[in-house]
Amino acid sequence: MLTNVFWFTAGGSGSVGLMAIQAALNAGADVSATASGWGLQMLREKFPQVTGFDYKTDDITANGAVYDAVYDTVGSERVLAASFKATKPNGHVLSIVARSHRDPRFVHFFKQASGETVQTLLDGLSSGRFISVIDSKLPLSADNVRLDYARLQQGGVHGKLILTVG
Ligand SMILES: NC(=O)c1ccc[n+]([C@@H]2O[C@H](COP(=O)([O-])OP(=O)(O)OC[C@H]3O[C@@H](n4cnc5c(N)ncnc54)[C@H](OP(=O)(O)O)[C@@H]3O)[C@@H](O)[C@H]2O)c1
Repeated sequence: MLTNVFWFTAGGSGSVGLMAIQAALNAGADVSATASGWGLQMLREKFPQVTGFDYKTDDITANGAVYDAVYDTVGSERVLAASFKATKPNGHVLSIVARSHRDPRFVHFFKQASGETVQTLLDGLSSGRFISVIDSKLPLSADNVRLDYARLQQGGVHGKLILTVG
């Protein structure tokens, strides 16, 4: 349990960030996250208990070093610098992107998927304990793969692009 733990997710509307937020909430942490545009709106609607920051306008360091753990799914120097500034002296900055950092609070955090963790996620999704955000569902075909790929390249995709089989 993460009771009395202040957890921050950078990139909270992304695939990894959204699951990290839900895992932290399930463990009892007090959760904050950055997002922007539709992602911030989605977080505010689906997770009103999460404190949302717009990374384009808000300063996550404004309240000082208040977080026990920051999970960085973005990896830019700017996001990492702000993450360290917002983390308690005995806290940790975990990053799925950055490999190393001179700050001793840094931890590279990438969990290789195992059957057990995938099953936990599937159980959570099918029971409604975890949610995923779906942008579109199309039948699997070469044309639809091209279409989805082009949309990803263009940007503006709001959630998962699903290609269904059968
Ligand atoms: N998905 C996986 O299974 C997986 C597995 C291993 C590693 N990774 C790595 O983990 C990282 C994240 O992956 P993902 O799949 O979660 O990516 P994603 O779905 O594209 O999400 C990225 C998130 O970062 C946000 N973001 C972009 N620039 C930002 C900034 N300057 N400050 C704060 N937030 C910002 C985006 O918000 P906006 O949309 O509002 O810009 C978006 O919510 C990637 O480097 C990926 O290679 C992913």
